[in-house]
Amino acid sequence: MDLNFQNGEELFQFILLGILIFFTLILLIVVLNIFMTLKAVLNEKAGIKTEPFTLNNFWDRFNSLKPMSEEKDILLDHDYDGIKELDNHLPPWWLGMFYGGIVFGVVYLLNYHVWHWSPLQAEEYEIAMAEAAEIKAAGSDVAVSSIDENNVELLTATADLETGELIYTGNCAVCHGAAGEGGVGPNLTDEYWLHGGSISDIYKTIVHGVPEKGMIAWEGTLKPKDIQQVSSFIKTLEGSNPPNGKAPQGEIYTPEEAPATDAAEEAPAEELASVE
Ligand code: HEC
Repeated sequence: MDLNFQNGEELFQFILLGILIFFTLILLIVVLNIFMTLKAVLNEKAGIKTEPFTLNNFWDRFNSLKPMSEEKDILLDHDYDGIKELDNHLPPWWLGMFYGGIVFGVVYLLNYHVWHWSPLQAEEYEIAMAEAAEIKAAGSDVAVSSIDENNVELLTATADLETGELIYTGNCAVCHGAAGEGGVGPNLTDEYWLHGGSISDIYKTIVHGVPEKGMIAWEGTLKPKDIQQVSSFIKTLEGSNPPNGKAPQGEIYTPEEAPATDAAEEAPAEELASVE
């Protein structure tokens, strides 16, 4: 038994509670006993033999509710202005819930307050906060130390592009079309861009959005890494020419980088296509 008391006061409260429960139980047994004895005496007076409580008649006693058709037999001779008193028993479902509730209460007390098997609400809260702090620390690490629109690099690894595609399908496809063909938002597969078509332009557009034109700023929702992944995925769409493509908007984007980078930018499209 692991009793983790923070201080003497808690221990004192626990012992007090134990004593209280103990005496309540004793009291309950005494009252029950008096009640049973009284009942036996009354029954004897009325000529009814009381069967002692045994395991054999347990269910009969438990299920001793008299149906309505037999109610006339159990009417007491108390009659108050026509209101009669019925001496029926509690139905089994009620007793079941009652005793079940007691058992549940004991298990609950032992689990949460004696053995501390499960965390209490306050502890659950602390655990959740600690987990969140860890996640936040890991996330902000990426945000602070590595990626922003000035140094963002095009990702070409299949895993990154697949994650990017998932992010795209989950967040962006509603407005930009499932294949990037455009809809509410512009076509992302052509070489025309409203806000620039370089990886850092795209990254910047997604981070800050164009709120007045209906493009949300995603920095509060997606982590920098996510945005890098989805930007890289969008770059793979260029030239894919999906059906129902929206008419081009903006300027033609011609990469300023050296041709070597150009080749690298085309590689992911093939890589992704070979995976699918
Ligand atoms: C509610 C609709 C909506 C959603 C959702 C949305 N966009 Fe947009 N997006 C737009 C609109 C509208 C524009 C055009 C803004 C403008 O006219 O300047 C746009 C523009 C863009 C551009 C610039 C295109 C260009 O021609 O320069 C990129 C890149 C982009 N969105 C990426 C994304 C990504 C990635 C997501 C998901 C994380 C996303 N968008 C989610 C509506 C949306």
